[in-house]
Amino acid sequence: MALRLGDDAPNFTAVTTDGTIDFHQWLGSGWGILFSHPRDYTPVCTTELGAVAKMKAEFDRRNVKVIAVSVDALKDHQGWIGDINETQKTTMNFPVIADPERKVATLYDMIHPNADDTFTVRSVFVIGPDKKVKLTLTYPASTGRNFLELLRVIDSLQLTAKFKVATPANWEDGQDCIIVTAVKDADVPALFPKGARTVKPYLRYTPQPNK
Ligand code: BEZ
Repeated sequence: MALRLGDDAPNFTAVTTDGTIDFHQWLGSGWGILFSHPRDYTPVCTTELGAVAKMKAEFDRRNVKVIAVSVDALKDHQGWIGDINETQKTTMNFPVIADPERKVATLYDMIHPNADDTFTVRSVFVIGPDKKVKLTLTYPASTGRNFLELLRVIDSLQLTAKFKVATPANWEDGQDCIIVTAVKDADVPALFPKGARTVKPYLRYTPQPNK
């Protein structure tokens, strides 16, 4: 069955371009992003892995480890990485899981047979420090993902894990947040010393608490 938000992120051991890993041990105590691409030596996937490599410092800054997976063999990953580095003007700096037996792809339901019965779709799983699934995304093979959106979601997830806020549509780090409806009006001044603006009883804004 498909993984849902709040589910345990299944553990596995896998061969990667950085050696064999136990996924949960590799994640450690921080956040993680596991994302699949359909195939090595394909154009959109080449741009995606290059884009993530260029953004590595941003993921590091947020204590997020990234790892890619496809059903290709290790030697294919190793050869293709040369092409990624060359064409995307970067140096690959995160592991890619070789999953020719579809172990990870099956555990995370990354093969959608009505789209393609052989290759993984473009799945994304954001995993929290508690090893629970915090976000899932599924894109078709023909659409490269917007990895800046993943940074934005991570910022929101990390903020809302610490403070009693949610983030509005198109929110970006530094913008006003929404006070969750469970907070009583009487508790707002103590919880949000930067102030609050009430638009409706259920729609209250506050400056981002950790800025
Ligand atoms: C690509 O990465 O360009 C791609 C991979 C599989 C199917 C379609 C496109």
